[in-house]
Amino acid sequence: MSISDPVSISDVVSEAGLAKIKPLRLSGSQPFTQQANVFIMIGERTNVAGSPKFAANPATAAALAKGNEGSRGAEVYDDNCAACHRTGGEGSPKVLPKIAGNPTVLADDPDSLIRLVLAGSALPGTTTAPSPLGMPGFAWRLSNDEVAQLLTFVRSSWGNRASSVSAGQVGRVRASLDSAPKVHASN
Ligand code: HEC
Repeated sequence: MSISDPVSISDVVSEAGLAKIKPLRLSGSQPFTQQANVFIMIGERTNVAGSPKFAANPATAAALAKGNEGSRGAEVYDDNCAACHRTGGEGSPKVLPKIAGNPTVLADDPDSLIRLVLAGSALPGTTTAPSPLGMPGFAWRLSNDEVAQLLTFVRSSWGNRASSVSAGQVGRVRASLDSAPKVHASN
């Protein structure tokens, strides 16, 4: 793999893909290209351990693994999020953020979390690495009620202990995004 090969989401979610990225990390003399993007992902996605709002609990992962979704929120997570963030909420080491125990997920004010799920998130591409490593937005696909149930599930599963999210809160954030630029998923 040369430095000009784009790194895609399918690379970063598979072990084989991560193996392709690792050699780039060892060569310190490359210019600020995709290598820098990979460094940014790794550097930013470190979770704070020991949050009082989190006590790891394996029950959610065990239930999802057996196909026992138990709630609409769990179903929405399984269908839209688990491919990247996994049924155990553990993400992918160093590249895809954890959901379990994540401070953004556990924040008292859920607005940032709602905004992320509706609008997605992407690191800026560069001319040599045009494919950003990012998260697609779900505003086009999920209703306010579905996002509320999803985030209520996410904030109370795997040992997360944060307040529920209402459809009204999601609607307010959605309205505030309507005039803002949208992030589109490429896949
Ligand atoms: C295609 C893979 C993919 C899918 C599907 C996906 N995400 Fe993400 N998610 C990412 C990536 C990559 C990031 C880091 C993006 C960034 O920070 O720019 C991220 C970031 C996050 C974060 C931020 C964590 C932090 O530390 O700030 C949360 C929370 C999150 N995702 C939740 C979800 C939820 C809930 C869903 C389902 C509705 C979902 N994601 C679907 C790839 C994905």
